[in-house]
Amino acid sequence: MMFSSASRTLVLALLTLGASASRGGTPTVSYNVSAAETYLPNKDYSNEQLALLWYQVGPVATHPVVTATVEPTPEPSWAGPGEFHPFVASNYPEELAVAKLPPGFNWGMTSSAYQLEGAAKDEGRGPSIWDLLSHRNPNQVADNSTGDVLAQHYYLYKQDFQRLAKYGSPYYSTSISWPRIFPFGKGPINEAGIKHYDDVIAELVKHGIKPALSLFHWDTPLALFNEYGGWTNPKIVDDYLNYAKFVIARYDKHVPVWFTFNEPQYCNWQYSYYPAGILYPSYGIGPGINARFICGHYTLLAHAKLAKWYHNEFKGKGRISFKNSGNYYQPVTNSTGDLEAAKRATDFSIGWFGGPWTDGDYPQSLKDTLGEILPTLSKAEKALIKGSCDFYALDGYTAFYVSELPGGANACARNRSDPNYPECGSSSQVAPNGFSIGPAADAGASWLKSTPTGIRKFLSAITKEIFPAVKDIVVSEFGFAEPFESEYASVPDAIWDLRRTDYIQGFLDNILLAITEDHVNVTGAYIWSIMDNFEWGSGIKTRFGMQYVSYDTLTRTPKASWFQARNWFKRHGGEFLPGAE
Ligand code: NOJ
Repeated sequence: MMFSSASRTLVLALLTLGASASRGGTPTVSYNVSAAETYLPNKDYSNEQLALLWYQVGPVATHPVVTATVEPTPEPSWAGPGEFHPFVASNYPEELAVAKLPPGFNWGMTSSAYQLEGAAKDEGRGPSIWDLLSHRNPNQVADNSTGDVLAQHYYLYKQDFQRLAKYGSPYYSTSISWPRIFPFGKGPINEAGIKHYDDVIAELVKHGIKPALSLFHWDTPLALFNEYGGWTNPKIVDDYLNYAKFVIARYDKHVPVWFTFNEPQYCNWQYSYYPAGILYPSYGIGPGINARFICGHYTLLAHAKLAKWYHNEFKGKGRISFKNSGNYYQPVTNSTGDLEAAKRATDFSIGWFGGPWTDGDYPQSLKDTLGEILPTLSKAEKALIKGSCDFYALDGYTAFYVSELPGGANACARNRSDPNYPECGSSSQVAPNGFSIGPAADAGASWLKSTPTGIRKFLSAITKEIFPAVKDIVVSEFGFAEPFESEYASVPDAIWDLRRTDYIQGFLDNILLAITEDHVNVTGAYIWSIMDNFEWGSGIKTRFGMQYVSYDTLTRTPKASWFQARNWFKRHGGEFLPGAE
């Protein structure tokens, strides 16, 4: 946004006011601040409004040194771990001895805007709900971190991409921040934000790295939440389309893969559990099960409208889909009740969104259980959604055992006060033999165990049983939070991430086995994440990066898993950029 000098004074005054609000306190936003000024019909008030939004968030930290785009310095050569501990071996030396990936297999690292960029308030960005939540919702983030600074990728992207180019991975999956482009979610465009993403895309193109871009990774513009409650209001669909079409029109020629949404299943927690006082305007629908399924509904409609526009009107040249949060649910026994419980768990996670685009409607179990809570898809909407993805994108991290509830699913499905409603099954990551289903990740990702064979089973199940219409599947995220990684006193200790290394090897092996042995058409795999970042409610202490970020110096140091992955792709015929080391 271009700030006029007249309004700059007022902005500064407001920022000073904002600085007195403490983290965790209830924000009192005074909309009378500009009352002394006479309203001028032709004046652009957007700067004042932006300052008020940030006042609602409170003081935002900045990095003391890195406050503008940094030109890259030459990259060092990396040797990887030393001679005294070998890399993790494959469990499938014979089956995979000569196995190769199919030509054109998409692979690379991942990230998302709010989790990596930092520079939260810089260059005209508007706040997203995550700025408010991390600053103002007590106990929202386990370690009290925010997205204010993080790895400052917003200013260090040139160095980061130079490193990726040398690494050689042909794709990079990340997201665009909606409130950087539309600080209010709609209305005035922030020229500085566009210029930033122009540069980001140009830099990727310069290195030959292909962007796989998500248009939405949970950072709903705060202004839209304030106005109408975000994804619980149908107005969001048009505001999203306005933003998303703008981005696609600008960058499509360089972007072969678009994700309309990252994990719409986020509606489960984003719209269920947050305290009403912080996010939900009193006139909004408020958190809870209704909001959860309404959020999913408008997300699906927004996705489908954009995808149809992309192919039919805009005639985009890439592929478009959305990323699904999905874990493999294995029935603990073959009893009918356990099988049904696993099916219900799958329906409520990936069926919720996969049913409509593959089969044209929500799964029957959702309709039966939720009744009027689940919005109905009209005939026209069903037609719009069906077939709206060019491929299936699975963020598949882990697996669970599922069992029937003691009283059976039906009693629970009829009782909205049952604590297991509406999934009405029981899941666990403890195997019947008493072991955890796999080695545990960091406590901040307590849902995550390393289950490499689960991804192979899941890829087959999705394409052969759950959604047989899926002919092409991409593992759009998988990754691991090494336990206790933030506890190490020395970076050299921290970067020997043995469990993540094992997870990466095991997952990649099993993805390849799904291709070579099970004949599943897996066309890509993306590793979460390029470097340590903000793990939402778990903050920065839970690290998912393939590079270690020292948050004081902003140094990124490749971990053992970074090399393990690269060796794996070399061994199995992955494509590399021409400049790869
Ligand atoms: C999937 C989400 O897309 C990403 O934002 C998150 O950090 C990872 N899972 C790890 O939990």
